[in-house]
Amino acid sequence: MKQRTLSIIKPDAVAAGKAGKIIADIENEFHIVAMRKLQLTRAQAAAFYAVHAGKPFYDGLVEFMCSGPIIVMCLEADDVIARYRKLMGATNPEKAEEGTLRKKYAESMSRNAVHGSDAPETAAVEVAFFFPGCDLL
Ligand code: CMP
Repeated sequence: MKQRTLSIIKPDAVAAGKAGKIIADIENEFHIVAMRKLQLTRAQAAAFYAVHAGKPFYDGLVEFMCSGPIIVMCLEADDVIARYRKLMGATNPEKAEEGTLRKKYAESMSRNAVHGSDAPETAAVEVAFFFPGCDLL
């Protein structure tokens, strides 16, 4: 069954000029329903990652995610949530499999190039965070 998920190309990868290669890898497997480039405010980054509030890495994560432009995409395909997470690879690029986005493009656990929703419920919330219903075909 077709699913949608949210993909973010994070500030490290956008600043390093890796976005084009990442988008090409994504487009190879999935339909890109919508795409935007923007810079989050601190409040928006804090709200987006609210599920991690209180964790030791939260403040650094918020700081990093509003430090520069990001590219957000709504992706669609059969089983896209799990399949996109497989394409991204492990959160820590040192543990990511060969060929995954994080293995190829990430610098470290905290500057790890890409984000993807982890479940249907979070995908619905995260897609709606960046794309109002009227923007989605
Ligand atoms: P992401 O998939 O965007 O979801 C939360 C992010 O927190 C994660 O990718 C990492 O970039 C970041 N992060 C930083 N430190 C940690 C950690 N110790 N454990 C999990 N995530 C971390």
